Amino acid sequence: MTPPLFRTRITELFGIDHPILCGGLMWLADAAYVGAVVNAGGMGFITPRSFPTAEAYRDELRKCRAITGGKPFGVNIYVSTRPEANEALGEFLDIAIEEGVAFVETAGYSPKIFMPRIKDAGMIVIHKCTTVRHAESAVRAGVDAIAILGAEAGGHPGMDMIGTMVQGALAPAALDVPVVLAGGMGTGRQLLAALALGADGMLMGSRMTVAQEIWAHDDYKRHVAETSQADTRVVMSIFNDNSRVLDNETARKVLALEAEGIDDFERYRPLVEGTAQRLAYETGDWRMGTPSMGQSCSFADDIKSVEAIFDDILADASAHRDRLKTLAV
Ligand SMILES: Cc1cc2nc3c(=O)[nH]c(=O)nc-3n(C[C@H](O)[C@H](O)[C@H](O)COP(=O)(O)O)c2cc1C
Repeated sequence: MTPPLFRTRITELFGIDHPILCGGLMWLADAAYVGAVVNAGGMGFITPRSFPTAEAYRDELRKCRAITGGKPFGVNIYVSTRPEANEALGEFLDIAIEEGVAFVETAGYSPKIFMPRIKDAGMIVIHKCTTVRHAESAVRAGVDAIAILGAEAGGHPGMDMIGTMVQGALAPAALDVPVVLAGGMGTGRQLLAALALGADGMLMGSRMTVAQEIWAHDDYKRHVAETSQADTRVVMSIFNDNSRVLDNETARKVLALEAEGIDDFERYRPLVEGTAQRLAYETGDWRMGTPSMGQSCSFADDIKSVEAIFDDILADASAHRDRLKTLAV
């Protein structure tokens, strides 16, 4: 494992060796993956909705604790605008608290309604959002840190589609909590750039989908390893719900419906529902469903362990830090 290269407010907050967070990945962020991220010196977040029952999710938390040898890890709580969806989230949070989980990554809607429960339990929370305005509001609600997402991101990059470089120049200066930069991140030189912009680290998603510890079929990962930064599409804009996904036939069908102006969600459901993405991971057929994928798929060029990916990123960061030193006059 690469020894620590940088100490930032994020390494201090999470008690980790490297300022590298790996965001929640629906279906994929299980104990094996998150445990590997923690053991490699970063921080990861298990996605509760990936498991068929609350008990299966609880088992996963226990499994993760065993993999990390008791080192802390996190869960991802994707907050919805629909109150009925958030009821399930409350249960996920309660189970995390019962199991002694230390960290929460909230995303989606404001985490405000969950903050009293999170804080009473003494958990640390990082909120992931796509505008500085939403970040400021989450900070007022009491979150400990912010992950600010740029338009390059896989999953939900927001409707304003502000690029990561602009987010990085704005968010750390505007917020008085630790900030990590996300969206298109996947190299050490970007980590260094994030630190130079005043951020305290970076958060990745897409880059990690080819990790050995990710359970998806190797055929799926091999396809991702062959993609370039041009191989993603933004779908579901018609519902004000931008979603950056892998470019495949299904994504193109979604875009065709959108181009026709069709706004009946039932026409989209079979194309975008989560179970279709799960099938892509299970079978390796990347044409199925609309798996979330960002432009940093370009950096995911080989199936390697999480630790080997971290080593590559940190070697790149170190080389570019040395290069910067030669530029000083
Ligand atoms: C396959 C996949 C699934 C994701 N699922 C979730 C999720 O369930 N909850 C969440 O908050 N973010 C989710 N995300 C977003 C990531 O946590 C992270 O914010 C994003 O990937 C960062 O941008 P990047 O893809 O450019 O690295 C997902 C991303 C990917 C690629």
